[in-house]
Amino acid sequence: MKPKVVVYRPVPADLLQELQQTCEVKYFPKWEDPRDPLFVAELKTAHGLLGSGLPINQELLEQAPLLKIVSNISVGYDNLDLAELRQRNIWATNTPGVLDETTADAIFALVLAAARRIPELDSYMKAGHWREMIGEELFGVDVHHKTLGIIGMGNIGKAIAKRAHFGFDMPILYHNRSRNQEAERDFQAVYCELDELLGKADFVCLMTPHTPETDKLMGEREFGLMKKTAIFINGSRGKNVDEQALIKALQNNWIRGAGLDVYEQEPIDPTHPLLTMPNVVTVPHIGSATQETRYQMARLAVDNLLKGINGLTPPNLITA
Ligand code: DGY
Repeated sequence: MKPKVVVYRPVPADLLQELQQTCEVKYFPKWEDPRDPLFVAELKTAHGLLGSGLPINQELLEQAPLLKIVSNISVGYDNLDLAELRQRNIWATNTPGVLDETTADAIFALVLAAARRIPELDSYMKAGHWREMIGEELFGVDVHHKTLGIIGMGNIGKAIAKRAHFGFDMPILYHNRSRNQEAERDFQAVYCELDELLGKADFVCLMTPHTPETDKLMGEREFGLMKKTAIFINGSRGKNVDEQALIKALQNNWIRGAGLDVYEQEPIDPTHPLLTMPNVVTVPHIGSATQETRYQMARLAVDNLLKGINGLTPPNLITA
């Protein structure tokens, strides 16, 4: 009998076919409500899960007694209860390495869009205006030669630093759990404590994973330390930021603006105040969403799943 896999995110057709050659596949290409009876019914006989974002916790795992592997199509794995998975001897995997450059591009897009007010100017033009009418109120700020602060110097942080150093002549400050010799050597990144970084950077990019230590890392105190002219970018996880504090900082001009890819609640409520602020550029958690990179991520995730479901150690086993 073929092992059974529940896929709960869109996966390219050729990879789906590859899975179907050796597995019985139940395909739920849209975001599934974990309580949806159809989904839960399939969990009961599933040996593998393939997808991203869905909270894989005790409640869900109790519905999936045969599970051997959860293959996340993402590098982040804050949706997984690792202790619970470990206790049940279920493998968990992620997709590191293949999305660093693409995500760094997206972060730089947010930096540039927020600094140069691209969405506001786009709306301005589409409303029939032209640049002669632009006064200082719609001028942006320079990015080149400004100081970039990176909180979380992992692989994506380094790819951001590379762009900033070689492309924009930006001095780089960073804060991280440990020193990153490569970033210091290759991009002249300078390590500093968080408060110092917040006080000196013109652009603050938050890139840490979400852990109990980073939960609401950016709160009122931290936004209060930033320069009034600074722009805050969140490319990590929404829960690393106290969103009420961010709103207060933006409304009271403690900072100039923000560029956001991630939110405390996803999907964000369409009436959320952050979506009404002209000095905030928002995108819906799409840091890695290019055709090429999402294919590579799905490729890795399928490889991980097929290894694990056949009892072989998957290449990207999460050991944390
Ligand atoms: C990741 O891979 O963790 C991205 O944030 C997409 O979820």
